Amino acid sequence: MIIVTGGAGFIGSNFVLDWLAHCDEPVVNLDKLTYAGNLQNLESLKSDQRHTFTRGDIGDSELVSSLLRQHRPRAVVSFAAESHVDRSIHGPGEFIATNIVGTFRLLESVRAYFSELSTAEKQNFRLLHVSTDEVYGTLGPNDPAFREDTAYAPNSPYSASKAASDHLVRAYHHTYGIPVLTTNCSNNYGPYHFPEKLIPLMIHNALAGKPLPVYGDGQQVRDWLYVRDHCSGIRMVLEKGQVGETYNIGGSSERANIDVVNLLCATLDDLKPRAGGKSYSDLITFVADRPGHDRRYAVDTSKIQRELGWRPSETFETGLRKTVEWFLANQGWVKNVTSGAYRDWVKAQYGN
Ligand code: NAD
Ligand code: TYD
Repeated sequence: MIIVTGGAGFIGSNFVLDWLAHCDEPVVNLDKLTYAGNLQNLESLKSDQRHTFTRGDIGDSELVSSLLRQHRPRAVVSFAAESHVDRSIHGPGEFIATNIVGTFRLLESVRAYFSELSTAEKQNFRLLHVSTDEVYGTLGPNDPAFREDTAYAPNSPYSASKAASDHLVRAYHHTYGIPVLTTNCSNNYGPYHFPEKLIPLMIHNALAGKPLPVYGDGQQVRDWLYVRDHCSGIRMVLEKGQVGETYNIGGSSERANIDVVNLLCATLDDLKPRAGGKSYSDLITFVADRPGHDRRYAVDTSKIQRELGWRPSETFETGLRKTVEWFLANQGWVKNVTSGAYRDWVKAQYGN
């Protein structure tokens, strides 16, 4: 079996669903259920014996060690993190606590577990650390895309905390021989995306007739990766990746923010026209820029394509349409998340 951390968040829950759709290997899901964790994402697994959920912190060494000893996983796939750049600007403390200290404690628990494995189990074991392209910093318009050997130059408290965690993971391989794999992916989008990030926020605001807040001049560029393509990349790295290596995963879909929002509006105009015949793009509003806003991210994915044979199956246009369709069909999920009803449920269930 495998342990997944952060498996109630956006990418983690997609990964758990995708994993169990592809194989029967059980998953133990460890998640703290912060504001970003939502068990509703995993509702379809409610009576599925292959999935076990435990609420807890990756930094709780006692809990993590007991899970490792009890379940004896052949892999830990770690998504758990604070993930939103804007929140890291307002309050970096949680990012340091989870992304750096939490990852350190997780590594320590894994190190103790690993030391007790048999030689054969050791050979089989993997710790896969999910990270971001933001650790590489920002690019000019004509700079080549980030490669795995691009120097780290993180600019936000979020990306700095992820960079620190990547370095710790690397060090635990070099120093203690832990068989690690690291993936650095670009901006994900798709089902269960929390509506604080660009794409789900814009869909949510558009449907509510609220302004669509584009930061600065809207010319910042991101590479967009459909979340299910990311999941297939992680599965492939876990299966075939070379221990100690890092792999960039991206959608080869660079877009300026304003183009993303315009395409979203056009897709919504098509799938759910506004009353009165106006376009959703009328709601676009330019607002103050994010402090220290990285101008451009782009990911060179030739390593994972060449070595592991992975490539994304969605273009940005097909992935975005699927995403809009999912949000239109799952307005109950959005309502629950934005109303805080699921937070109430977590409190009722877990008591704090
Ligand atoms: P998310 O914020 O949606 O989910 C994070 C999950 O981790 C939540 O379920 C939360 O409850 C859980 N969590 C937070 N702190 C925890 C702790 N201390 N112990 C246990 N669980 C904890 O994030 P996401 O978008 O799904 O991102 C997952 C991973 O992918 C993160 O490591 C992030 O840095 C990385 N990443 C995300 C993107 C993206 O576009 N979303 C891009 C690149 C990399
Ligand atoms: P975001 O989804 O927060 O991801 P990241 O900052 O990790 O790339 O933002 C994507 C881009 O969209 C980023 O350049 C900031 C911009 N943005 C807006 O213009 N308006 C918004 O309301 C948000 C949330 C983001």
